[in-house]
Amino acid sequence: MHISSGTTLLSLCTVLFLRQITAWTDPFFVIQHGPDIITSRIDPVISPGGISSHVHSIVGSSSFKPTYTYENSRAGRCTTANIAIDHSNYWTPQLYRKRDDGKFDLVKMNRANTYYLSEQVYDFPPGFRMVAGNPSRTTYNASNYADKAISYVCLGVNGAPETGAFPKQSCPNDLRAQVFFPNCWDGINTYLPNSAHVAYPTSQGYNSGGPCPKTHPKRILSVFYEFHFTDRFTYKDGARVWATGDDVGYSLHADFTMGWPKGFLPTIFPYGEKCAVDFSLENCPPLKPLMTTNGSACTPDPGFQIVNEDIGTNNPIAKLPGNNPVWGRSGPKKPDPHYKETAQFVTSTIQIPSGWKKLGCLAEPSGSRALTAARTTDQAMTPTKCLNFCASKGYSLAGVEWSVECYCGNSLMKTSLSAINDQLACSMPCNGLDYSAGYCGGSSKLTIYQKSGGSVVSSSSTSKATSSTSKASTSTAKATSTSKATSTTTTKTTSKSTTKTFTTTAKQTSTAAKTSSSTQKATSTSKVNSSAKSTLNIKGSSSSKTSSASTATNTKLAGHKRRPVH
Ligand SMILES: *[C@@H]1O[C@H](CO)[C@@H](O)[C@H](O)[C@H]1NC(C)=O
Ligand SMILES: *[C@@H]1O[C@H](CO)[C@@H](O)[C@H](O)[C@H]1NC(C)=O
Ligand SMILES: *[C@@H]1O[C@H](CO)[C@@H](O)[C@H](O)[C@H]1NC(C)=O
Repeated sequence: MHISSGTTLLSLCTVLFLRQITAWTDPFFVIQHGPDIITSRIDPVISPGGISSHVHSIVGSSSFKPTYTYENSRAGRCTTANIAIDHSNYWTPQLYRKRDDGKFDLVKMNRANTYYLSEQVYDFPPGFRMVAGNPSRTTYNASNYADKAISYVCLGVNGAPETGAFPKQSCPNDLRAQVFFPNCWDGINTYLPNSAHVAYPTSQGYNSGGPCPKTHPKRILSVFYEFHFTDRFTYKDGARVWATGDDVGYSLHADFTMGWPKGFLPTIFPYGEKCAVDFSLENCPPLKPLMTTNGSACTPDPGFQIVNEDIGTNNPIAKLPGNNPVWGRSGPKKPDPHYKETAQFVTSTIQIPSGWKKLGCLAEPSGSRALTAARTTDQAMTPTKCLNFCASKGYSLAGVEWSVECYCGNSLMKTSLSAINDQLACSMPCNGLDYSAGYCGGSSKLTIYQKSGGSVVSSSSTSKATSSTSKASTSTAKATSTSKATSTTTTKTTSKSTTKTFTTTAKQTSTAAKTSSSTQKATSTSKVNSSAKSTLNIKGSSSSKTSSASTATNTKLAGHKRRPVH
């Protein structure tokens, strides 16, 4: 969809700009995502069907896979996004931290914000995808928009400047990796190698509404990512390393596969100012009914693929996956010429002992447990370990919770039985496997398995069935609930996450600016003594908008050129 802006509008705009209009008039909204849906060496844009050269952290549609079409994206059964119909996928490299012993710790990506900044533009065609940034870049050219579009913000440090390389300090409230995509399109191709189908404006900034090159005349929505990495370490030069091996930070890049329903985004354009809502999507009428809070519970679709290698999910790894020796501070990348790719895709159908089947996900009854007859904990828990443990004790039901805990029993209450179905709520991977999301429960949630032959006694209360073991199990249950209570902490991190200044483009000396600050609250509940497992609830709140007396006028002028300056 394209709405041309005539000369009348242009001159009117100029007049208004000179009067320093302080509100923007174009839709501008931010989709929030919980943690990654998949972290693996997969990149269907650059390495379709193959193993990608480095590990990526991916958010968006649950259907993400190595060979991927628009129709695949749309068919995903959920998304990490807080707008249910946004089945796009968004990804960057995974961040690691080099330890003193030379090994690498995976630095968790805890949430991502994906911005859509609009003027009156063309909609993305189905199948549209693009990449911004260059995974082998070693230099920074301040006049080059492609370089400037890659940046970092160190959160929790007052007045930390935005930087083109990794910030030279630790970031107590996350390292925010940022990528601004090109917003000029050739109008023809959904993708070209090296993303030659898209380009940055020719002047006025990488993130401006400056003129598009003649080769790429069509303006598309500006897409901008903020990926938050939990980077709370004592600072050490060279310790941050992208999965590419780069320890400077210039190799940050990002991929986008468009997964919105065809024709939906243009329905937002006419709202102009009304949908310039920042994080407050509820204020934009077309988005409001589509909001969802279950993005952080979205898990990959059944049968999803993953690369069969240790990416460092639970333990430090000796080398970065792939052929990625550390480079950057020591010069350009020098891959090992003898490297042979041995990694393979595996389909993550978790093998469980024969005779057992997965029933689904069950929330623990409040104040008690669904299965109390026996329990064990294993820092390398898998469904197989738990099922074998329960079988050895003669139980026909087994439940895995919080990635590491295993519970057994022979009966469930009727109410519990009928509650088993919510597949999305058990989203935790098993500690003992890297590719098992959904198989090892969640926070106070069990992934339940049943042995065939064993009957699930759907008693209205568990008391009779378990009365013979009641003493033992009562004390177990008590011990369990105590340890749970004491080992659970709630941490609140409030971070000033975005301060964006919108300035007018063009030759005006006045920066008719709008500063919007939005505060995001990330509340994470995590077990202290469990390795990096947490559930994250995202609440976007916002947004001290500078109100404008001339909203109506501005709305009429929708389409003119205000751009974020980061
Ligand atoms: C920096 O980028 C500008 C704009 O792309 C280009 O004209 C210039 O040659 C580059 N400088 C260097 C040293 O590469
Ligand atoms: C997630 O949210 C969407 C939209 O509100 C809803 O359709 C879907 O059923 C939800 N899924 C779960 C498991 O809650
Ligand atoms: C975690 O548990 C292990 C074994 O039970 C114990 O040795 C360690 O001190 C605990 N760590 C914390 C932080 O509580």
